[in-house]
Amino acid sequence: MQHEIVLEPSGQRLWVREDQTIVAAALEQGVAIHHGCGNGSCGDCKGQILSGEGIQLPFMPLLLTPEERAANQAILCKLQPRSAMRIAAQVDTSADAWTATVLSLHPLSATVMELCLQCDRPYPFRAGQYARIAVPGAAGQWRSYSMASLPDEALLRFHIRAVPGGVFSSWLFERARPGDQLQLGPAQGTFTLQQDVERPMLLVAAGTGLAPIEALIHERLRLPWTAPMHLFFGSRRAADLYHLDYLQELTRNRPELHLEICCSDPAATGLGGPRRLLPTVADHGPWSDHEVYLCGSPGMIEAAVDLLLSHGLPHARIHFDSFTPSAG
Ligand SMILES: Cc1cc2nc3c(=O)[nH]c(=O)nc-3n(C[C@H](O)[C@H](O)[C@H](O)COP(=O)(O)OP(=O)(O)OC[C@H]3O[C@@H](n4cnc5c(N)ncnc54)[C@H](O)[C@@H]3O)c2cc1C
Ligand code: FES
Repeated sequence: MQHEIVLEPSGQRLWVREDQTIVAAALEQGVAIHHGCGNGSCGDCKGQILSGEGIQLPFMPLLLTPEERAANQAILCKLQPRSAMRIAAQVDTSADAWTATVLSLHPLSATVMELCLQCDRPYPFRAGQYARIAVPGAAGQWRSYSMASLPDEALLRFHIRAVPGGVFSSWLFERARPGDQLQLGPAQGTFTLQQDVERPMLLVAAGTGLAPIEALIHERLRLPWTAPMHLFFGSRRAADLYHLDYLQELTRNRPELHLEICCSDPAATGLGGPRRLLPTVADHGPWSDHEVYLCGSPGMIEAAVDLLLSHGLPHARIHFDSFTPSAG
């Protein structure tokens, strides 16, 4: 059974089957509904049900606050209709597209590449946000990558991990060359620095989750704040660790920044032996007076959120960006 869905304020109409989500149907019907991961992990498809009935499938905890739920907000990539509906949802326009040229490709480790891009016109974003990048040669496929750079830098810098068999990362590691061109959508995400009140910060980065965390650290270091920042950076495999010298140098110059590097791989010599990221974070707690920023795989984020809630941290002080594999 299909239902007519009207998106407000654009007035665009969709026909959506009961076994389809709003985002999936919009993309199938060529409507550029604003979204990120497509599978309930990032919150970028948040909308509001203005009328009608739908079923909300499970999504990452904390994406909607109790107040947002009470106000009929919904995660549209996990919302299936059960009647005709009117939904407030952002729809991107063709003006929201940038062409970027690959300036350089620089290996940061055996499995992580730094990609530097120059956009054809200024690319507005906030530190910690990400760009959706069209996969070259694969029409309609996009991947999300967080900027490691700050908005006032001339270039966009990304840290991208090689995923075996991955469409975008294989292109990047095997075929990309300086001068290649990429299409970017507008910057997205709410993983940005909370500047309303100065608090000590806990930053937890797994793998290339370090990219937006580095941007947040640099933005924070520009503020006249003195509260400590505790960065825990880890990965399961030693090959996925990078920027270690760079981070150690940064902590030497900025005494308010404290660094713990964790790797559960026994091959990680020189790091004081294997240790896991979240147990190390727990050992250094409690973190109940901190503003927390988490970035990495969905599994790490969910476990870290559980851990921090058990340390008495309120939801509102936990911010996260989940590097969920793309749904298309
Ligand atoms: C908001 C956001 C920001 C992101 N930022 C970054 C970033 O800064 N740097 C970065 O490296 N990645 C980032 N990612 C992940 C990135 O978008 C891609 O999912 C990833 O690079 C894989 O894309 P691909 O085309 O190479 O692989 P795909 O073709 O999408 O995947 C190939 C296969 O590998 C599986 N797969 C994909 N990713 C993983 C994984 N992590 N672990 C295990 N299996 C996987 C897929 O399910 C599929 O079966 C981010 C994701 C999100 C949602
Ligand atoms: S696009 Fe819906 S939660 Fe990410």
